[in-house]
Parts: sequence; C-alpha cells; structure tokens
Amino acid sequence: MGSFNKAEQKAPVLFLIITVVVTAVATMATVTFAMGDKPPATASKVSLSPMSAAEPTQPQVKTFAKVANPEIPPLAPLGPPPIPADNPMSDAKVALGKLLYFDPRLGGDASISCATCHEPEQGWSFAEGISRGYPGTVHWRGSQPVLNSAYYNKLFAAGSTPSLESQAPSAARGGVAGNGENDIMEARLRLIPDYVNRFNDVFGEPWPTINNAWKAIAAFERTLVQRDTPLDKYLLGDKTALDDQQLRGKTLYEGKARCILCHNGAFTTNEKYYNIGVPRATRWEEDGLAQVTFRFEQYAKGATEEMYRNIKDDAGLYYRNKNKWSMGKFRVPSLRYTKYTAPFMRQGQFYTLEEVIDFYDRGGFDEEGRTTSFPETKTPLVQKLGLSDEEKEDLLTFIEALSGDEILMDKPKLPPYKPLFTRAELQAAQAAK
Ligand code: HEC
Ligand code: HEC
Repeated sequence: MGSFNKAEQKAPVLFLIITVVVTAVATMATVTFAMGDKPPATASKVSLSPMSAAEPTQPQVKTFAKVANPEIPPLAPLGPPPIPADNPMSDAKVALGKLLYFDPRLGGDASISCATCHEPEQGWSFAEGISRGYPGTVHWRGSQPVLNSAYYNKLFAAGSTPSLESQAPSAARGGVAGNGENDIMEARLRLIPDYVNRFNDVFGEPWPTINNAWKAIAAFERTLVQRDTPLDKYLLGDKTALDDQQLRGKTLYEGKARCILCHNGAFTTNEKYYNIGVPRATRWEEDGLAQVTFRFEQYAKGATEEMYRNIKDDAGLYYRNKNKWSMGKFRVPSLRYTKYTAPFMRQGQFYTLEEVIDFYDRGGFDEEGRTTSFPETKTPLVQKLGLSDEEKEDLLTFIEALSGDEILMDKPKLPPYKPLFTRAELQAAQAAK
C-alpha cells in the first residue's frame, strides 16, 4: 500500500481523480492478495492491528479458469529460494547448519533436535496429526515439513514468523518444542571443540553464539528444496513428464476443482489465510495432555479469559490480530512434496490425499459431515465440486506430480564435548596434593 501513497503524492493535480480511483481499486486488490476473504458488512472490526484495515475485493470465482487474473498466478517451475542479504550461503555454513539441525544439544534437556520433529524419513515433518512435544508434553499442531520451507514468506500455520532465522529460535526455545535456554545451549556449543573451530571459520568470531547457530541452521534449510518434480519438468518443456491422467488432473486443478484459487504460482500457495472448513482435531476430546497444551497456547497467545476457558478449536490467524473475522483462518500451504508428508492440515485432520480431495468435493466437510468450529468465517471459495470418482483419481495423480523423488538424509556423526580435564591431568593433580 505504501507505494500507492507515494504515487498519489507525485500525481499531477489534473490526474488526481483518476489516480484516486485507480489507487482505491488497486489497494483493494493488494489487500486481497495479502489477506484472503473480504469480511461481510456485519463483521466485527474491533482490532487495533493494521491487518484489520483489510477491505478486500470479492474473489473473482466465476472467471478464474477462463481469463488471466493477476490475482491468480499460474503454476510455474520453482526457482531457487531467496537468500537474505544478511545470511549469505557457504558450503561450510551449510555443513555446520546440518550438524546443528540434527544435534539435540540445541534444546532443553538435550534429548530432541530439530530432526526429531522434522525427520527426513517422515517427509521432514512428524507423521502424527499433532506433533510430539518436548518430553512430558505434546504439541498442539502438526509439524510442517522443513523441506521447501525456505520459500515461505510467513512460517507456521498462522504465519506468525517472517524468516527461518527467527523461526529456529522459537522452535528451539518454545515451551512445547525445544524448550531450550539460550545461555545453556550456547555454553554447550562452546564446549565442543569441533563447533568452536567451525563457527570461527564460518562467522569469523572467536566463540559460537546462539544467533549464529540459527543462521547456520537457516542456511542448511535453504538447501532442502525440491525443484525437479514431474510438474516442473513438464512446465520447463518436457511434455512427457505428465501422463494423460495427470494432465486431466491439471485441468481439474485449474478449473472445476478450484484448487488454483489458493494453491497457485510456482510454490502452489498464495500465502493468504482462509477458513476452508477443516473440523477440529478429535484428539483434544480424548487426550488430557493434548488439552493441557491447547489451553497453554491460548494463554501464551493472549486469548481472552473467556476463550482460554471455553474455546475448543485452534483459532489460527485470530491469535495474531485478535480480529474475530480471522477466527479459524490458516495460511495456505504449498502442495509440493505432499506425497511424503501425511497426515494433512494443521492438526493432521486427514490421513490421506484421497480424504483431502473428498473433503473439498463435499465443500469443506469430512465424511461425518463435520466442518469448521467457526462457520461465520468459512470462505465462499470452497464449495461442493461434484467430482466423479474418475475425476478425483485424476486430480490425485496430478497432486502427486507436485512431488519428485523422496529426499532422504543420514543423520551425521555429531562432534563430542571436550573433556574438562583428562584422566592423566586428574591423576597428576591428585598426586600433587
Ligand atoms: C517438539 C517438536 C518440534 C521441534 C523440536 C522442532 N519443531 Fe519445527 N515445528 C514443529 C511444529 C508442531 C510446527 C508447526 C507449528 C505451527 O504451525 O504453529 C513446526 C514448524 C516448523 C517450521 C515452519 C514450516 C512452515 O511450513 O511454516 C520450520 C521451518 C521448523 N519448524 C523448523 C524447525 C527447526 C529449525 C527446529 C530446530 C531448531 C525445529 N523446527 C524444532 C515441531 C517441532
Ligand atoms: C480457499 C482457498 C483454498 C482452496 C480453493 C483450496 N485449498 Fe487446499 N488448503 C487451503 C488452506 C488454508 C489449507 C490449510 C488448512 C488447515 O491447515 O486447516 C489447505 C490445505 C490443503 C492440503 C493439506 C496440505 C498439508 O500440508 O497439510 C491439501 C493436500 C490441499 N489443501 C489440497 C487442495 C486441493 C486438492 C484443492 C482443490 C480441490 C484445494 N486444496 C483447494 C486453502 C485452499
């Protein structure tokens, strides 16, 4: 929006009216692009956050398949991920980041590493609906794949973190994730001679610091990308990369099945937030420990006392802007690599891609007819699709073409602590007494 304000200031007076109109329309489009659905006229706007100023336009549902719509970028081959200027890549940094990613000493009780909840063999995520937590806890959301996460502008299911550099510490320190204390994690790194050398080599500083550890992990994560899927090959000109069934699936994806409305562009996400109708996780009804974390998260995210006591579902984007219109909205995830990342949705509500397709086909209901806990904010973009069994099958084979071969990695051998003194030194010291 800032750029439009600038344009307005510079516009000659004669064109002011035109500019204002164009600006208004374009601003609305920009905001739509950033947020998601337009609130109804009756929606509550009691928020102090700048996000609540959103007045997006109505989605152009009817025309999306026929005309080029600038709000719906077409599917495209995936390029390399962006590299931030303040954390350039180097082989030595990536090698260090890999060790740290697998090293449980970057966590509270040195028992779980990033890889514990983001296992290469589990699609670089954790194959349960709700992720395991720090020992003695369970998490409250499903672990998302770290693979390809370098492409997101906003990380986590509600987009609460803007970069991998700032994501890593919240993972390693979060109460139900790593639960680590910065000072202790840093002290551990400093007592591992191999790390001291590597940090020195990579960052040119005498001692490892915790912030540099997050930078190295982020650099490693930026190498975990998949850009050679059948779809990428097809879009780059290899017309044999998709078979007829997958091509029929692609046509459905871009048309009748509506997936392209949100899962669009090279990374198959517009990164906006929607309530698509996913029902609440049943685990919270049965598992006391999961219920404890769920209540803790309400408190930690500043929900009202009323919500803390009574809410029964993850309110998603609401926790970030405290705007009722954001209840139950979540970031659109990429569909790349989903062949390996079951279960699906923020708490793994669906186990298979077949179930997901059935859910969309019913217009956002599971097989028992359950839907979102926040029906007021459910998006009009998800509607009954009327897909035949054959069409569902075609769509499924196309979704699978958004994943290439599985990317696996062996756990590296981790460098040991330096002994504070050797046995010989100890004996010498005792003899000298
Ligand atoms: C105890 C399990 C656990 C541990 C340990 C853990 N994570 Fe996660 N991670 C999760 C869960 C659960 C989520 C989803 C949270 C959410 O959406 O609110 C997540 C989300 C992420 C994401 C966001 C992906 C996306 O699509 O937005 C990244 C990146 C990530 N973790 C990296 C890491 C790194 C790096 C570490 C180690 C420093 C780590 N995680 C440690 C469970 C864990
Ligand atoms: C209105 C926007 C929208 C449309 C249209 C849409 N999706 Fe989604 N999709 C989302 C959002 C938002 C989520 C995450 C919801 C959550 O976690 O609760 C999601 C999640 C998914 C997931 C789970 C991914 C994961 O890693 O957990 C799959 C698979 C998926 N969608 C496939 C599809 C398919 C196939 C279509 C077309 C039939 C489609 N989507 C149409 C917005 C949309």
